[in-house]
Amino acid sequence: MPVNIAIDGPVGAGKSSISDVVAQRLHILHLDTGAMYRAFGLAMLRQGIDPLNEAEVSAYAGNVTVSVRYENGEQHTYLGGEDVTGQIRTGEVSAAASGASKWPAVRRAMVDAQRRLAATADMLIDGRDIGTNVLPDAPVKIYLTASPEVRAKRRYDQNLAAGDTTPYEQVLEALNLRDQQDMNRATDPLKQAEDAVLVDTSDLNFEESVEEILRIVERVYGK
Ligand code: DC
Repeated sequence: MPVNIAIDGPVGAGKSSISDVVAQRLHILHLDTGAMYRAFGLAMLRQGIDPLNEAEVSAYAGNVTVSVRYENGEQHTYLGGEDVTGQIRTGEVSAAASGASKWPAVRRAMVDAQRRLAATADMLIDGRDIGTNVLPDAPVKIYLTASPEVRAKRRYDQNLAAGDTTPYEQVLEALNLRDQQDMNRATDPLKQAEDAVLVDTSDLNFEESVEEILRIVERVYGK
């Protein structure tokens, strides 16, 4: 059985960057499942399909192939034969991914692909529904979170560093809205799996968060 570590949590908890470093230290691959939903969202934008139109999205979903390959240990996300890794981090794609990820037909396709990947290699998989739905039997499940205020402050600081001066109050409001959407959608909402370990990084820095997760992994898999 391959090593499977499931990490779920809300936006802004530092999941992606923390998962990257934890996977590197464990010498295993990191599957960022959000990137797959983003690639799907990009396909909808290119086709001119409204991501919120369930009938159109579902009818087209069978034509979209999202896959992942690793180059020097780094994830590259593909749409058909095209590497779209560099095109999926825009606000537009983020909104399209958020909309399209509500629909069962889309989730089924992504979840199937994620399960196939997790069965073939030692992986840390991060997302929203990994411990609850994609890999309910994963030996290690972590729910990574922080208070909304701390997550919004981190996002605000990142934005500022990138030259984006959106006021903190506005960042907090948008984050609360995303939380509501992620936690209240009908299919596979974000929630802590009953057997997941809660890691609250509100009072932890990056390195402390990484070490806390490594300790949890070590309890299950040993050194
Ligand atoms: O983590 P992210 O922001 O890159 O995710 C992009 C979108 O995909 C986000 O709106 C939530 C959704 N998503 C999901 O529904 N299930 C996952 N396992 C991962 C992401």
